[in-house]
Amino acid sequence: MTMIRSSILVACAALALAGCNIGPQVSDPATSGVTDAMLDAPPPEEWLTYGRDYGEQRFSPLDQITAENVSDLGLAWSADLDTARGQEATPLMHDGVLYISTAWSMVKAYDARTGELKWSYDPEVPRETLAVACCDAVNRGVALYGDKVYVATLNGDLVALNQSDGTVAWRTTVVPDTTSYTITGAPRVANGKILIGSGGAEYKARGFIAAYDWQTGEEVWRFHTVPGNPADGFENEAMELAAATWGGNWWELGGGGTVWDAITFDPETNLVLFGTGNAEPWNPRANGRNTVEGQEGAGDNLYTSSIVAVDADSGEYRWHFQETPEDRWDYDSNAQITVASMTIEGAERRVAIHVPKNGYVYVLDVATGEFLSGTPWTPQNWTLGIDPETGRPQINPAARYEQSDALWVSVPGAAGAHSWQPMSYSPQTGLVYIPANNGGFPFVANNDFEASDIGFQTGLNSAATAMPADLAVRQAAKDATTGALVAWNVAEGREAWRANYTGPWNGGTLATAGNLLFQGTADERFIAYAADSGRQLWSFATQSGVIAAPMTYSLDGTQYVAIMVGWGGVWDIAPGALADISGTPRNISRLLVFKLGADGTLAAPPALAQRALDPPPVTGTPAQIAAGALIYGRYCSVCHGDAAISGALNPDLRHSGALNQAASMKAIVLDGAFAHRGMVSFATALDEAGVENVRHYIISRANEDKALEGR
Ligand code: HEC
Repeated sequence: MTMIRSSILVACAALALAGCNIGPQVSDPATSGVTDAMLDAPPPEEWLTYGRDYGEQRFSPLDQITAENVSDLGLAWSADLDTARGQEATPLMHDGVLYISTAWSMVKAYDARTGELKWSYDPEVPRETLAVACCDAVNRGVALYGDKVYVATLNGDLVALNQSDGTVAWRTTVVPDTTSYTITGAPRVANGKILIGSGGAEYKARGFIAAYDWQTGEEVWRFHTVPGNPADGFENEAMELAAATWGGNWWELGGGGTVWDAITFDPETNLVLFGTGNAEPWNPRANGRNTVEGQEGAGDNLYTSSIVAVDADSGEYRWHFQETPEDRWDYDSNAQITVASMTIEGAERRVAIHVPKNGYVYVLDVATGEFLSGTPWTPQNWTLGIDPETGRPQINPAARYEQSDALWVSVPGAAGAHSWQPMSYSPQTGLVYIPANNGGFPFVANNDFEASDIGFQTGLNSAATAMPADLAVRQAAKDATTGALVAWNVAEGREAWRANYTGPWNGGTLATAGNLLFQGTADERFIAYAADSGRQLWSFATQSGVIAAPMTYSLDGTQYVAIMVGWGGVWDIAPGALADISGTPRNISRLLVFKLGADGTLAAPPALAQRALDPPPVTGTPAQIAAGALIYGRYCSVCHGDAAISGALNPDLRHSGALNQAASMKAIVLDGAFAHRGMVSFATALDEAGVENVRHYIISRANEDKALEGR
């Protein structure tokens, strides 16, 4: 306990003040194991936190593996995982132990030299939680501090495990409820506090970030990103100011702005910088959130799609910068925030570099949030430009699709020009290496939207934008949807080089002092490039798409590179006919570890099953099929894929035996026969007639696609 705190305690006792609020007691920082000093100056051999250093640069000073010898890199060991969903975690390495988290928030500790499993922890997340997880049952990693390892679970708990044996030290619930909130992000550490937020802004979530005492699991502070119901009073002045930028009864759906990925602690300013997600619902007319003083399009909806800075000890607001005011395109600002020192226009600056979904690269002053630059690095159509002084975008009026009531194809799309896949920054080259998605997303407003108790609350008409059964249209959409690795010169605001991929949703990146840049790809490769020139130097067939970022460590003088493979996340599940453009739809979840001179191999993958469609004949009326399309678009497409075409993870309903019988479909969709496997009951939103309509819609879709087979 600090001196200040004890004197407040004494004062409180002396005055016997009722409700004298000194906040929770905070444990002393760790003095052994992983300490603040180690996190501040990470040993080159280790990888102690999600982004390797506090600044999340993902640059390793290790240089045994170089551009000259990387062709000799081979598989040292691998570990099969007991889950086959998206693997998004960056492994951590401390004291010879490699720690990973997997889908379903499980944690595993391996001997980092041999791959021997030391222990494994399963938080036993109820599989029903999948119904409120927008983007698969993923988890992006653990945190290390003192003698503990921390994981946040999909169903909203923060768990402290003992590093030695994986036993639970404490487990506490972070989220307000488990019907809208999930956690997929990696916890971060600041002055002995464990920081975590949540996802949920497609459901009914009010964004927040919270700090927990590392020893006791007690909540130390919580900062909301969206104001609550004014009738309840505001928690602080920041909420009161934000409330003026909201209209309608925004608090009823929560408002969104969830902190689901980016959290950066900056010890120099003692600030926690974090990114906030999309405003909710996506269609702002669905609850009038954007109509302030009777004027539609007037509400910025603070602090959604922003970077916010709070004091690390108290959680008090310090500054914010909103990247996407009045968001209606799912332009989360959740991509990781990288802090670096660099010379910009002759001056030495400590900057936060941010590349959110919206297609701009932002450079801000870390201490003040001052806008230094905002540069479009990829095609975009939602702005007509950006104010060079303030960074405020001039929104393209045509992009306000709820007002035009017409189709709007946003560029970037909802998956973002850059999403959570971590970028890296090399101080040697001055480049950030961005995993890029190129493509659009179709928006048609459902302005008659009413909230329901289950499923996405976006306020869109997803039936109107479903991919038609037209091979030419599908091919054109595929051609317009690609991926790339973009090396971007931050100080000069220009592209240095790029590597193009056939599809989007590739892995995060790692830069090393050996002039190397590593990235896994959706089309099942792990690639090394020369960091300065972009020349491809090496690649390894991973047998499964990669979305996670690699990391590197060194033991006994040997440098290793580790990466988790396992295709999934949002691109596998939602994009329907586009789901396969990035590669084969296959998930073989593994941890792969490489070193120079090794020659390990993987067991041959199972052949990809090619199944011809064999649906029952169409018996539904056009009215039933049209009604079923609306239900499918709103409640089913997020998991089973746009236009009833799925990726690798969830069943493709065009092949389902349940299409043959109304009773089977009802047992699954209304009675929840497979709830324990993630397919929950939709009885709160649908009745028997509705389920029958969906069945007729899927039968119709399957017959349309059967007619296209072989063409
Ligand atoms: C949150 C994700 C999610 C949503 C939303 C969802 N499902 Fe599912 N569904 C699943 C999963 C996961 C399974 C596989 C469960 C298993 O392992 O058996 C499944 C299985 C099914 C099956 C059985 C498929 C088969 O033959 O194996 C049917 C039918 C089905 N879903 C229909 C629907 C319909 C209709 C909707 C919309 C009303 C819907 N689902 C919405 C995740 C989802």
